[in-house]
This record gives sequence, C-alpha cells and structure tokens, in this order.
Amino acid sequence: MDRIRIVGGSKLNGTIPISGAKNAALPLMIAGLLTDETLILDNVPRLADVAQLQRILGNHGVDIMSAGKRPGDHEYQGQTLHISAANIIDTTAPYELVSKMRASFWVIAPLLARMHEAKVSLPGGCAIGTRPVDLLIMALEKLGAELTIDGGYVIAKAPGGLKGAEIDFAKVTVSGTHVALMAATLAKGTTVITNAACEPEIVDVADCLNKMGARITGAGTTTITVEGVAKLHGTRHTVLPDRIETGTYAMAVAMTGGDVQLSGARPELLQAALDVLVEAGATVTPNNDGIRVARNGAGIKPVNVSTAPFPGFPTDLQAQLMALMTTAKGSSNITETIFENRFMHVQELARFGARIHLDGETATIDGTAKLRGAPVMATDLRASVSLVIAGLVAEGETMVNRIYHLDRGFERLEEKLSACGATIERISG
Ligand code: EPZ
Repeated sequence: MDRIRIVGGSKLNGTIPISGAKNAALPLMIAGLLTDETLILDNVPRLADVAQLQRILGNHGVDIMSAGKRPGDHEYQGQTLHISAANIIDTTAPYELVSKMRASFWVIAPLLARMHEAKVSLPGGCAIGTRPVDLLIMALEKLGAELTIDGGYVIAKAPGGLKGAEIDFAKVTVSGTHVALMAATLAKGTTVITNAACEPEIVDVADCLNKMGARITGAGTTTITVEGVAKLHGTRHTVLPDRIETGTYAMAVAMTGGDVQLSGARPELLQAALDVLVEAGATVTPNNDGIRVARNGAGIKPVNVSTAPFPGFPTDLQAQLMALMTTAKGSSNITETIFENRFMHVQELARFGARIHLDGETATIDGTAKLRGAPVMATDLRASVSLVIAGLVAEGETMVNRIYHLDRGFERLEEKLSACGATIERISG
C-alpha cells in the first residue's frame, strides 16, 4: 500500500493550481443519467472517487469517454468526460459499488425521475458518523415515489412519473438538496425546496441542469423552485474550482510560512475560511489568477471556530484548521456541528505531540512550539490531509499511511506541495 513520506521544516513558496471540485464533479456526473444526450464535463479532477463513480455509472449502462490531453494543455488541467446515458440497461446500484462511495446513492434521483424506478443499496455508516439518508427518502416520497426497504436496498417506484411538491428539509443537507433538485427537474409541475443547502456545488449543479433545459431558480439561497420539464438535453459544463482543496493549501501555507499563489481559486467560495486564516495571522490577497496566501515572520494566532453550512466555516476544513492551530501561540476552540464523529484526526495529531482536549463537539487545542514527525494514518479524506499539514512543519520524518483516502479527494497532492519546496514523496508498495 502506498505511503507518503514528509520531512518537515520547509516553507512553501510558488504556485499551486487548484483542481475542479470533487463534490461538484460527482453530482454533475450523476446528473448525466437524466438525459439520453451527451453531457460533456470539463475540469473534472483525476481522483479515485471520480474513477469509482465511472464504474458505478458504467454498471447502469452509461458510456463515459475521457478525452485525452490536447497540445498546449497544462499538465494539471482536469480531464474532460463525455457522459452518455442513451441506454440505461440496469436501474440497480448494487451494494458492492455503493458501499465504496456514499455519494453513489444519489443515482436514485435521476433513475427514478427518468426511468420511474430504481433499486439502490443503502450506503451504511462511515468513518465520520452514521450519516442517515432519511431526508433523501422523505424528499423522494414527497415527489410521489413509493419506497420500500428490502434486503438492504431502497426499492423506489413512481409508475406515473414524479410530481412536483413542497419539500421542507428539517436540517440543512447537501445530499438531500442534490437529490431533490435532480428528481424535481423531470417531475410534473412545480417543486419548492425550503431550507435548501446553499453550497456552491449545489449552484454549480443547478447551473448545469439549467443548461440541460431544466427550469431552476433560487439555487444558492434557502428556497429553490423547480418547474418540471418533460425532457433534458445534453450540454457542456466546466466544474467549478475545489474550495476545500483551496482552503487546505491555504492552511498549509499558513502552517509552514511562505508565499503561495493558489491559481484558479475563487475567494467567494470560501470567504469564511479565508477570514479565519487572516485572524490567525496569514495574509490573504485575492487577485486575477486566484488567491495569494502568505505568512511571514509573525506566529500563528489562536482562533475560535464552529463549522456550519455554507456560507459558514466548512466541516471539510475542520481537521486542517485543527492541524494549523496545534502550533498557534495560545488556546483555540473548534466546534464540529455537522457530523457527529468527525474528530478521528485528534488522536493522530497527538502523535506529533499536539495537545488537544475533546469535550463533546468541541476540541480545545493548546498550541505547542514544536511538533515532531511520526508514523500516522487516518480513516477519512480530510483527516488524512490534516496529518500532511502537521507533517510539513514537524521536526524529522512523518510517514502517512493508508493514503488511498487522500487519493479519493486530492489530485497529485505530493507533486503540488513538492513543487513549492516541501520535502514530500509517495512511496509505492
Ligand atoms: C456532503 O456530504 C459532502 N459530500 C461532504 O464532503 C460534506 O462534508 C458535507 O456535504 C457537508 O458539507 C459530497 O458532496 C459528496 P449532508 P453529504 O447531507 O451531502 C445529516 C468530503 O470530505 N443528514 O449535508 O452527505 C448528516 O448526517 C465529504 O468531501 C441526515 O440526518 O452531507 C449530517 O449530519 C465528507 N439525514 C448533516 O445532515 C439525511 O438524510 C449534513 O449532511 C441526510 C443528512
């Protein structure tokens, strides 16, 4: 199994190109099931999760062609996928595939909307909590689907097609909003989704669906209205830049010191996180090419932060911020409000000598002057990358094990960091 070896102590200086957003690319690929015409997606990141979803969609009969590089393309340029769901040959998403990636459960929405039936394995728990799908099921039932659970599968039917409805989410949910939105595009009549998630990835998917002929207004606000249409068509869409990758590298620079241009990043996608970085002592300068992040001389100041749905501080940056705060001059508090069990990195950060006390949903981090390298591993993507951030400043060698988690969500992580002066390499086998 591959590992990543880091020798801490180098500042980061240079340019890091930001890839397309994983959490937009996945639902956009799934939206390809809604039409029998070809959906072309540009700037799709080269990630294990994307490859896994290609396999899952292939199982339904979707043809996906990945266009090769053209002369003049930058080595980091994302891939272009041509997704054609002209012939859906199977409306079942089996356990073996869904259990490998939770978001694949979302295929239930386009399959129901277009084929009027779907049989999709329940995803099960995962490393960051129980993660139920009750709100997704509620949304589909409101749209007129009949759902039963049998043998670990959700069996969904809507013989006469889905019908527009009022869907009010008791809790803000990204997955629930994606599913409701996709399903409502082909429903008869109008759907109004209230307490909708406002995440930029929802807006990106809604923009693409509108280009495919959907009639969606209000995406990016808490109320989204969808006028159902009879058919969607193909289009071409560019995946928006990854705000979590952006925030991760911004925190890495704040941690090591130095000066890095995050090329292609969009500051409005992560303003809350950038504000926290400024409070912590980093200099953040939006410019024409993205965002420049620097920290020179001054130490890291402690902060108090709670995660929240967009536009709040994202849960997907909580572990990275905690790594940063381990070397702050003073005590920080970080409260996780989205997921029940997203603190697995705490024990691993302690292996570097970090001082973190957990009390329910809140971690108190007492900054220490020096971290020391250690062998570490983590059980989810963002926790894993927080260990890389700690390793970049820890004295001596850090070995990050189980890096397949990193490969799920960070494209060429070690190449991007070593190009900016970090001593980091992948060790195969
Ligand atoms: C998405 O997960 C992201 N995944 C997550 O990123 C991200 O952490 C999360 O949104 C929050 O921003 C993708 O986009 C593929 P939710 P999702 O539905 O949609 C509860 C990463 O590292 N809930 O907004 O699954 C749920 O348990 C990942 O890239 C219910 O109770 O998140 C959680 O507490 C990890 N019932 C809260 O809502 C439901 O039916 C928010 O979940 C659905 C959710």
